[in-house]
Order: sequence, then structure tokens, then C-alpha cells
Amino acid sequence: MLIDRPPMGWNSWNTFTNKINDQTIRETADAMVEQGLAEAGYNYLVIDDSWSERERDQDGNLVVCRAKFPHGMKSLADYVHSKGLKFGMYSCAGVRTCMDYPGSFGHEFQDARYFADIGVDFLKYDYCYKPSQADGPMLYNRMSIALKSTGRDILLSACSWGRDNTPQWVRSTGAGMFRSTSDITDTYTSIRDIAFSQLDNLPYSAPGCFNDLDMLVVGLNGNGSIGFGQGCTEVEYRQHFAFWCMLSAPLMLGLDVRNITKEARDLLVNSELLEIDQDPEARPPYMHRLQFNRDGFGDENVRIMFKHLSGGDYAVGIFNFGDEDTGANVRFYDIGIDPMCGYGFELTDVFTGENVGTYHEIYTMKIAAHDCRVYRAKLVQCGHGGL
Ligand code: GAL
Repeated sequence: MLIDRPPMGWNSWNTFTNKINDQTIRETADAMVEQGLAEAGYNYLVIDDSWSERERDQDGNLVVCRAKFPHGMKSLADYVHSKGLKFGMYSCAGVRTCMDYPGSFGHEFQDARYFADIGVDFLKYDYCYKPSQADGPMLYNRMSIALKSTGRDILLSACSWGRDNTPQWVRSTGAGMFRSTSDITDTYTSIRDIAFSQLDNLPYSAPGCFNDLDMLVVGLNGNGSIGFGQGCTEVEYRQHFAFWCMLSAPLMLGLDVRNITKEARDLLVNSELLEIDQDPEARPPYMHRLQFNRDGFGDENVRIMFKHLSGGDYAVGIFNFGDEDTGANVRFYDIGIDPMCGYGFELTDVFTGENVGTYHEIYTMKIAAHDCRVYRAKLVQCGHGGL
């Protein structure tokens, strides 16, 4: 199966951690449809760690926890499928999962069969309790082959947190997406740390295997299980989402979609941002040179990116990761627009829909701390230069 667009969906971890059960998952499936999230493209519903019993049965099979899932997993998978969604589950390349349930090490082919029989479409595959003598890439390759042996299309979502140089080998294992960082939390520093840490990984994400910057924290507002305090502001969530989209990252929701706020919903279904994320070419953004800060040094906190989109347009993202409001200057010369070339960019704000004009030399703006601007940019003749 070609994974040609960054996968989109929902995962249980950020809100529920180990407190998952049949009813919650069914209600989530309902809400994904009712809230229009499924229609917007969020079509995988993934159950994370803690769904099984603590031990395998006598034949070495995984056993679903009946206290949490009294109707079994097949019934739940059928329900999720009946809503037009795809069903995802979780296991681990090590001997135990991170929450100390059985991992798939040494049981890969048996577990793959188990998942295929349930009707699983997506397997998140973690990296805890990996025997030290076992080779990480081989374990992902092994599970990938095991999944293929079932004859069912199952997306392998590698979750080795970027360890052991994951970005360099993970595509070769057949995985469709890969985690490149440790776990996100519902805090701005976590979002910023992840964003900065991935600027060196830009070349590794492409159709076939996408860099997963971790599940989104948009809309958690401190109510999930992975945050501290109040969570983030709407401005911070907006920057977080826009950054993931500029990188064409998988978009796995982590909020409780049954109680989604209007602000979160509007952001998550913003069709302009989703188009940027899901652009078929999935190109990494071209990075504008750093602008100078007050002391005359490159200001690492302000990042300006140009992303080529299929069809000829561009997306321009301006991100202020700094803790203070600042001015930002998009200098078109820095991305290859010579002042005399006769072309400029017509910019349309993807949040407001406003056309802010056509620029060919410099576009200057004020940008609040932790905020961003994202424009759809059209290359237009602008009458300057020697044409
Ligand atoms: C972590 C993983 C998280 C979540 C958790 C479950 O290793 O990065 O996303 O799956 O395990 O225990």
C-alpha cells in the first residue's frame, strides 16, 4: 500500500492514556463523524497502549482486556469500520509495552495474524523493552514483513522516538510513518522543542514514509493526560498545527473529540492548512535565511519557510518561537526572487482569507510571541523590472 499522504486520524493516548474502554472509543468514533472530522480527512481511529491483559494466553496469543472491552476487539473494529473510519491498534517491538503489557518481540507473525483477523488497518509499533542484543531496524522490518504476510493492508507506524538514527533506516523497513521525537506534552516548550529538533530531519519525510512529530495537543487545554497545568493558548495551538502542516506531518488528533471546542474544531478543519499538509508532493519547506536580531545575530526564534505546492502555488509560514512579540521581514531575495525579475507573490492569509497584497522585495509584519502567519502565495507578474 502506498502511503501517499500524511496519515490523519485520532489516537487515544494524549487524552486517555491507559483509561480506555469500549464505550469511550465508540463515542469517539461517533464524534469523529458528527464533528466533521472524518469528512475533513481524519480517518484512522487508533487505540494506543493498555488494551490487553497483562499476559498472553497458553498458546501465546494476545488477549484483549475484557474489563475494558467487554465485546472484544473485533466488534469494536466492526463498529469503527461501520462509521467509515479505519481501525488502528498498538503493540511494541520489545518484550513489553511501555505500560508493561505484552510486547510483540518473538511473536511478530502470530500477532500480525491476530491484528489482521480483527480487521486492523494501522499498527502503532513502540520501542520500549527492546532486548539490547536485538537490532531495532530488524525488529521493524520483521513486523513489517509479518503484517504483509497476512495479506491485509496495515499501515506500520514506527514509534522508535527517533532513536538509533531512525530517520535514516526506517523507510527501508516498509513503515508508512515514523516518530522522530520523544513524547509531546501539552505545553508550549514541548511543541517548540519538537519543532526545532525536526529542522534537521526535513529530507527524511516524503510520500511512502512520513515523519511523525507526535500526536497533536490542539484542544487538550490542559485536560489530557500528558500535560501539566493549563495546556497551551489558542495562539500556541495554532502555531503547533500550522508547523505540523508546513512539514507535511501526519495529523493524529489527541484531544477528546466528544468535547471539542469551536476554536479547536475550526483550526483542525481549516481546509487551507489541510491542503498544505496533504499536498501530494509533500515537499519540505525551503528555509529563508535567519533574520537579524537586535544584537545583529541570526534570530533562531523567527523561522520563515516557503513550501512548494503541487499546482504551482506556495505556502509561506512565519513562526515566532520567541517569548516576545517581534517584527519579521520576509525578504524575497532570500528565496530567489531578484528585485528586477518582474515577479512577486500575492499573499492570502489562510486563517482569515484576507488577500494582504502582492510583494516582491520585502513583506514586513509584527508577530506576537508564539504566533505564526501562514499565507498561500501565488507567483504573479508585478510590473517591476525589465520585462
Ligand atoms: C510511548 C509512545 C507514546 C505512547 C506510549 C504508550 O513510548 O511514544 O506515544 O504510545 O508509549 O505507553
